[in-house]
Amino acid sequence: MDKTAFFKLSYGLYIISTKYEEHFAGCVVNTVVQATAEEKPKLLVTVNKENDTNLTMKKAKKVNISVLSQEADMLLIGKFGFRSSKDFNKLEGTTNIIGKNGIPIITQAVCSYIEANIIEELECGTHTVFVLEATDAEILNDKPVLTYGYYHNVIKGKTPPKASSFAQ
Ligand SMILES: Cc1cc2nc3c(=O)[nH]c(=O)nc-3n(C[C@H](O)[C@H](O)[C@H](O)COP(=O)(O)O)c2cc1C
Repeated sequence: MDKTAFFKLSYGLYIISTKYEEHFAGCVVNTVVQATAEEKPKLLVTVNKENDTNLTMKKAKKVNISVLSQEADMLLIGKFGFRSSKDFNKLEGTTNIIGKNGIPIITQAVCSYIEANIIEELECGTHTVFVLEATDAEILNDKPVLTYGYYHNVIKGKTPPKASSFAQ
């Protein structure tokens, strides 16, 4: 199999956030997909089983998705994409608001967000595919979205081993 064929798949970049009791967890993902466009749209997100965000989502049953804009820098992506919420409070020093569902939403370098309930979980090799149902969504600004291509080609960012996708 020529795995460089996977490099031709394109994605956006997001920070997902969740909270169970007093514990906040969140991480960078490229695997948010809108699955349906019904009254309460469904989405999918794929999260590594070893990520603290995965364990916390399974307890909280809620997650918020922040759509990153091109204003995102490596400080923000490094914090949410290369460190673990297990032993580090990623919320400290990060601009956020509290969602209607009581879960913090990252608003730093973010152009829109979606609040969601987790309605199904599918174990999928190294990752869990979470099926989400949106409960609220807002636009914050018109800044261009951060795509995976822009992250690799312009920001020259890297992808850690726990990500879902092959990367150049
Ligand atoms: C560009 C990029 C894309 C990523 N995509 C995913 C993803 O789709 N799913 C995932 O589980 N982790 C992904 N990650 C890795 C997590 O963000 C990373 O393992 C994080 O440190 C997990 O934090 P946590 O332990 O607080 O949950 C990605 C990281 C980067 C930088």
